[in-house]
Amino acid sequence: MKFFIDSANLDEIRKVAEMGLVDGVTTNPTLLAKEGKGFKTTIQEICSIVDGPVSAEVVSATSAEEMLKEAHIVSSWHPNVVVKVPFGPEGMKVVKKLTAEGIKTNVTVLFTLTQALIAAKAGATFLSNFVGRVDDISGEGMVAVRDSVNMVHEYEFKSEVLVASVRSPQHIVEAVRAGAHIATIPFKVLEQMYQHPLTTSGIERFTEDWKKSGLNFD
Ligand code: G3P
Repeated sequence: MKFFIDSANLDEIRKVAEMGLVDGVTTNPTLLAKEGKGFKTTIQEICSIVDGPVSAEVVSATSAEEMLKEAHIVSSWHPNVVVKVPFGPEGMKVVKKLTAEGIKTNVTVLFTLTQALIAAKAGATFLSNFVGRVDDISGEGMVAVRDSVNMVHEYEFKSEVLVASVRSPQHIVEAVRAGAHIATIPFKVLEQMYQHPLTTSGIERFTEDWKKSGLNFD
């Protein structure tokens, strides 16, 4: 499974890059607004930290013409930039055009198999199935992920299923079980994925017993 980090925070992205785990980055208007820095400079800085796909989202979601203009701007910032396009009739026209131009796309705010199928048919590179926002309203977000994975395999689409809106390590467990290609993970969740009390206590016990033994490496 590829790990993308779901963040526009440069410190978080640097820390994950140092862990040697990050395969790409996804941003969105909310994450960028939280950082409050320049869109272009932030994306270019991220591209200098992570050598992988970096998603930058267009914002004129109701106009294919405007989104196409924005797509060409963001894709000019760095070769690794992937154009993130909100799902919808206008967005899919844009994805079709960008695919024909050889520009990679990440179709976002997907919640159903039918939406993912349409995005895959449009040529989307990544299908961002949101899970957390469905779980937040007592649904089961992972159902559409499982269906989307089966769909891309069944019809041999090149699209990759990207599990997004991740809220906990359990989402990663379920994403693996579903056979998802990628998960985009908030920094906090990635840190949680390392933690287990028995790991901590096990290391403490080994350390204490070694110290008591008086042994060394000779
Ligand atoms: O960036 C796309 C997605 O991961 C955002 O999810 O629900 O945490 O805003 P959310």
